[in-house]
Amino acid sequence: MWRMPTRTTRPDESRLIDGFGRIATDLRVSLTDRCNLRCTYCMPAEGLDWLPGPQLLTAAELIRLITIAVQRLGVSEIRFTGGEPLLRRDLDEILAATAGLTPRPTLSLTTNGLGLARRAGALRAAGLDRVNVSLDTLDSTRFARLTRRDRMADVLAGLAAARAAGLMPVKVNSVLLRGINDDEAPALLRFCLDNGYQLRFIEQMPLDPQHGWQREGMVTAEEILTRLGTEFALTPVAGARGAAPAERWLVNDGPATVGVIASVTRPFCAACDRTRLTADGALRTCLFATTETDLRGPMRAGANDEELAEVWRTTMWGKAAGHGINTAGFAQPDRPMSAIGG
Ligand code: 5AD
Ligand code: SF4
Repeated sequence: MWRMPTRTTRPDESRLIDGFGRIATDLRVSLTDRCNLRCTYCMPAEGLDWLPGPQLLTAAELIRLITIAVQRLGVSEIRFTGGEPLLRRDLDEILAATAGLTPRPTLSLTTNGLGLARRAGALRAAGLDRVNVSLDTLDSTRFARLTRRDRMADVLAGLAAARAAGLMPVKVNSVLLRGINDDEAPALLRFCLDNGYQLRFIEQMPLDPQHGWQREGMVTAEEILTRLGTEFALTPVAGARGAAPAERWLVNDGPATVGVIASVTRPFCAACDRTRLTADGALRTCLFATTETDLRGPMRAGANDEELAEVWRTTMWGKAAGHGINTAGFAQPDRPMSAIGG
């Protein structure tokens, strides 16, 4: 949705302020566009055309840009995403360097959980604070159909290992799909309550490479809450939500909560505090941005840290008011979710 920015000249501000006065303090870094699952709503069976190796940022380049974000631009939270970020063999090195920055940012990871069982301890030791694990179903046959890989047990083991390693709170992300797993909301919540994980449902967004998303097919936040309400008493969590995308409810009077990220039906763009970096070094102001700013080119051409910081500031200054999914002229971005990062 286009709205007149409230200011037209960028103020003298070192942080990442945009024309609507929002300040981005949360950086999402996609470490790879590859994945070892093939969730039907995210990728075709044969995968996608992966970014060629030389185009990917190296660990040293990633660490340099993250350092600029933290030390010059006021970023205080870093989330590593993919594709599947555990496929980066240098992940521990990137985490350790990021955790060593002053001021130390909070470090989290969004993962599909494959291989997490083996790596959770080392990730924690490298400085990772928290994980979000994607799990859409608790039925292994459905899992195999939905992700095209028979690996549900690995994900469950990964979740347990994350908890044991102290990567707390362990959050679970679930996307419900009509006719596939939309009957599982209560079961997923029961599972998370029993295991001490924090569950969040995410409304499916138009970010699939197949362009198959349809508003009518989407399972809405309202429907998810209705389904949960058949088995649980939900009361809204009081207090400020801040820039958190999830709206949360106390389950059976708490202390456990369940969250719903209603990006489509209840957009939270007005409070957005995010800036994004793709695995090939492009800055994005939003998941749904239709333009990007290349940082890799200037970096490899010899730009200094302050020059790169200034490119970042200028890019964020142009951030749109919102994603515009609910407007007539909405166009899906060229990059699918797996190449942007969740
Ligand atoms: N809409 C909403 N969530 C999505 N994810 C992947 N594609 C979409 C989409 N189109 C989720 C994954 C994972 C996180 C990174 O984003 O299930 O939990
Ligand atoms: Fe991989 Fe995540 Fe896409 Fe599934 S949703 S294919 S786990 S990137």
